[in-house]
Amino acid sequence: MKFKISGPVGTIKPYEAGKPLAELERQYNITNAVKLASNENPLGFSPRVIAAVNETLFCMNRYPEPVAHGLCRLLGHRFQVGPDNIVLGNGSDDIIALLAHGFLNAGDEAVMPLPSFLMYEISVKTAKGVPVMVPLENYAINLDGIAARVGPRTRMVFVTNPFNPTGSAITRDQFISFSAKIPQDVIIVVDEAYIEFVRDKVVYNSLDDPLGDPRVVTLRTFSKAYGLAGFRIGYGIMDGQVAQILNRIRQPFNVNTLAQVAAQAALQDEEFLNKSIQAIHEGIDYIGCALIKMGLAPLPTQSNFLMVDLKTDATKIFNEMLGHGVIVRSMKSYGFDTFLRVNAGTQEENKAFIRALEQVLGKKG
Ligand SMILES: Cc1ncc(COP(=O)(O)O)c(C=O)c1O
Repeated sequence: MKFKISGPVGTIKPYEAGKPLAELERQYNITNAVKLASNENPLGFSPRVIAAVNETLFCMNRYPEPVAHGLCRLLGHRFQVGPDNIVLGNGSDDIIALLAHGFLNAGDEAVMPLPSFLMYEISVKTAKGVPVMVPLENYAINLDGIAARVGPRTRMVFVTNPFNPTGSAITRDQFISFSAKIPQDVIIVVDEAYIEFVRDKVVYNSLDDPLGDPRVVTLRTFSKAYGLAGFRIGYGIMDGQVAQILNRIRQPFNVNTLAQVAAQAALQDEEFLNKSIQAIHEGIDYIGCALIKMGLAPLPTQSNFLMVDLKTDATKIFNEMLGHGVIVRSMKSYGFDTFLRVNAGTQEENKAFIRALEQVLGKKG
């Protein structure tokens, strides 16, 4: 190559997104393919979003509001925080990148679980920082291991709760004892992309006590429970000083107008949110039981997805499932060579997944 790529950026592995439905349908010349690979909401989104978006389309010749006042007011009211404690992003991906760029100088460290949501590592390396990866313990974040790797160059730590991809979760007590071991000047990023799906009451929720610890930066997204993945919008709740840095470096129009109004409408439709969560819980229970009937052992999950060990090459099974019109995720790139991750879909999609897996594995429940 003509250009020399040196330093951390040269070591970035490209993000592997879930295979798009349209691509599979084109490839196999099929229709009605099923995608359970990106932890999206199978029910779509609130009808209020459609109304809000339709009403807003006529003003798309204008730039978005650089600060989405309406949405910030709603979020502030919901979580009892001020507008100066809220940062919106083009997905929570965007806020992860802002944190890395805002707080890491070359050579500074960010400690995170291994494997992790890949955008942590990509963002840290793009900011010329050093990701310090701590292997999971028993499919859960090794909090003691993360605390032990915090050193003089550490500026931030990442924890994901519930954890993607295993579905494990951190309890309130575990978080309290973890945070006590983290120095006062280290940011604790708590990524709660899947928090709405948690069923166990002992699981830590950082917004039960918003801003109770100035080190904690909470990341949330509208992509999962609210079903707005395609709009691209997420938010962070954080100490005012941290928010000020992120707002200083973000692109002024990082959240487009349709995303702003869609999120506002979605946030106000609790009924749709609750219906979605209930359907997803039912889906997870159905998939879990069906896998157990097949003699498999899915990992317990607090999220809208689960991981299961197939005891055979998961990428081979993933590829064969494509031929049956079903997209899931092989966990090979996460270091779990024999595991698949699947998220709950509609009941029809869940059944299609189980049928395809039975056929591919040659097993019947
Ligand atoms: C743990 C985790 N954090 C963040 C995100 C990013 O979400 P968003 O769509 O808001 O960028 C994802 C998406 O899959 C995720 O799994």
